[in-house]
Amino acid sequence: MRHFLTLLDLEPFEGKQILERAFELKNLQKAGKPHHTLAGKTLAMIFDKASTRTRVSFETGMYQLGGHALFLHSGATQLGRGEPVEDSARVISSMVDGVMIRTFEHSMVETFAKYSSVPVINALTDWTHPCQILADVMTYMQHRDEIQGKTVAWVGDGNNMAHSWINGAAIFGYHLNLACPEGYLPQDKVIQEARDMGATIEVTQDVLAATAGVDLVTTDVWASMGQEEEQAEREQAFAHYMVDDTVMGVAKPNALFMHCLPAHRGEEVAASVIDGVQSVVWDEAENRLHAQKALLEFLLK
Ligand code: CP
Ligand code: NVA
Repeated sequence: MRHFLTLLDLEPFEGKQILERAFELKNLQKAGKPHHTLAGKTLAMIFDKASTRTRVSFETGMYQLGGHALFLHSGATQLGRGEPVEDSARVISSMVDGVMIRTFEHSMVETFAKYSSVPVINALTDWTHPCQILADVMTYMQHRDEIQGKTVAWVGDGNNMAHSWINGAAIFGYHLNLACPEGYLPQDKVIQEARDMGATIEVTQDVLAATAGVDLVTTDVWASMGQEEEQAEREQAFAHYMVDDTVMGVAKPNALFMHCLPAHRGEEVAASVIDGVQSVVWDEAENRLHAQKALLEFLLK
């Protein structure tokens, strides 16, 4: 049995296979052809944080695969009243075929996975958001070509998304430049682990140096879920980290712009960029559905 807690849980060839299957599933769905490969299977979805894309894509994905998804907001379960994660994992996993979790502490999904008898999928923790990178790499392939050997620039917070892009560099073989302000850098051990696996990763404070000549520019909110109280302080720290037309202007002329969403126009990204011709954010959001259906098949079938 396999879990998907970070991208490093996949071998590079498995990452490729999942995305190939994601394109097949997307074609089947667009053609209106049934593909009930997970008939009779149930996915429990535990949410400790808000979500639009993740919930809609997993729930719809399970339905399209002939299965069922169960939305469990932690506030409405005994987990939210303090039932130990270990006990909840044993009980929930005894009745379903897979569990998807969005929570704060990454150790919670690790503990859940340890006591679960079925595969566990990380649908965002404070540490990583691996499902998003599957959709993002798929979106790059949809609009361009293989991402291997291309250069991706991350601008902004060294957060869960930055960590996932770093892990992705090791699995999908793109070069990664990160421009992050002092005090908001990704964790060294995440970078080191990816470098040890052969990834080429540069970290700088200079946004234009990081984005010069790149194939893809991406960013994320300055204050993630759970950091709302730091918003004002972060606005100061990230004031020079907006992806605007000047930043896109130094990237390759055909560079794409991605954002996991939700976005704050006028903070991490200018409206002219996210709503402009280089932006592929709506395909990126839609591809959550197709990439995760392939992931669900890979883990649950
Ligand atoms: N990108 C993403 O995970 O979106 P949601 O928070 O809406 O699920
Ligand atoms: N870094 C953001 C990503 C949201 C999908 C957050 O954790 O809130």
